[in-house]
Amino acid sequence: MLSPHQIRAEIANRRPNFSLSRELYCDEGVYQTDLEQIFYREWLYAVPACEIPKTGNFATLQVGAYPVIIVRGGDGRVRAFHNVCRHRGQRLCPKANGSAPKLVCPYHQWTYDLDGKLLYARDMGDDFDASKYGLKPVHCVDLAGLIYICLAAVPPAINDLAKQLMSYLAPSGLADAKVAHSSTIIEEGNWKLVMENNRECYHCGGSHPSLCRTYSDNPLMTVMEGPNAASAEILAHWKRCDDAGLPARFVNHPDMQWRLARVPLLDNAESFTMSTKAAVARRMGTIPWNDAGSLMYYHFPSSWTHFLPDHAIVFRIMPISPTQTQVTTNWLVHKDAVEGVDYDLQKLTEVWLATNDEDRRVVEENQKGILSPAYEPGPYSPHQEEGVIHFVDWYCKTMTERLEPVAMAAE
Ligand code: FES
Ligand SMILES: [Fe+2]
Repeated sequence: MLSPHQIRAEIANRRPNFSLSRELYCDEGVYQTDLEQIFYREWLYAVPACEIPKTGNFATLQVGAYPVIIVRGGDGRVRAFHNVCRHRGQRLCPKANGSAPKLVCPYHQWTYDLDGKLLYARDMGDDFDASKYGLKPVHCVDLAGLIYICLAAVPPAINDLAKQLMSYLAPSGLADAKVAHSSTIIEEGNWKLVMENNRECYHCGGSHPSLCRTYSDNPLMTVMEGPNAASAEILAHWKRCDDAGLPARFVNHPDMQWRLARVPLLDNAESFTMSTKAAVARRMGTIPWNDAGSLMYYHFPSSWTHFLPDHAIVFRIMPISPTQTQVTTNWLVHKDAVEGVDYDLQKLTEVWLATNDEDRRVVEENQKGILSPAYEPGPYSPHQEEGVIHFVDWYCKTMTERLEPVAMAAE
């Protein structure tokens, strides 16, 4: 089990533009340190706001050791709390989601208001001060319909991302969306392998027959170096979007922690369907055409999304062991779209259900190979795997900066 000091040395010794060393993909100490330095410190996409549209609606998730509950209050605001009762520490809410007028602990029925205040605790004596035992808050923001949480005492700045998301996501109308389908799978692979796999389409031709009907695996279409490296097709698409007032051009964080860009699908395909046509008759938001392409957004360490004219697909990953990652996918459609009338659930979901399963298999085989003592880091393709390089560089830079004080304190 590597110490923070050893992890820092492992990262410092890496060969740039090569995959990481075996330990960084499977060691228990690395897993714990990834949680502590990345997942407990960064803003994390949690759930779509439309999953909890009404007062009392809640959703829970587990981030490493931390159970978290996200709930919509009587004032319409979404808040997040540690999902831990302040009496003797029972997990307050074991359900994945639901609705409740108050949050009642199942153990001894301490009862909390939706804003976290302790309202009721039976037989606690005259000098018991309920105001000292409210639920512990977790930082929480709603960014254009995506709920983000941060477990850190002082979260990193999110203003730039918030500004861009508000602008780029506004035409997708997430406030008027609903969850049409949700899927959670476990991939037997380190979370970094799941993210690396997502950041390239070098594997798409060999792995994703249904996705490749509509999604180009040309790296110039999907993994762009920046606004000046885009293909003529992308530039024409952006011009068309500009003229319609639809934000489309590539914007990114300086360290590539996130990126937004709207790209066309193959041959004017409308959506990720087997037919290449829209899956939902009722378009979302105000996007003017069926063939407006996908607004692609990723955010390290744990999410990526496609916002299409007719639906959106939002992915969240969560490490659950050194070699296991939970992948949750939500399909969002307009809240008035009726299943069986405006969309067929199977046609809406089949391409990405298959693609997720295909990605699960490649990630699991990748992990199996890396577990071999014969594995050694291999070179990333500069043309095809630039997105992977961005991710690995971001990871290594972030870990190095954060592990420096930890390693120095241990010396
Ligand atoms: S632990 Fe929650 S009421 Fe006792
Ligand atoms: Fe894939």
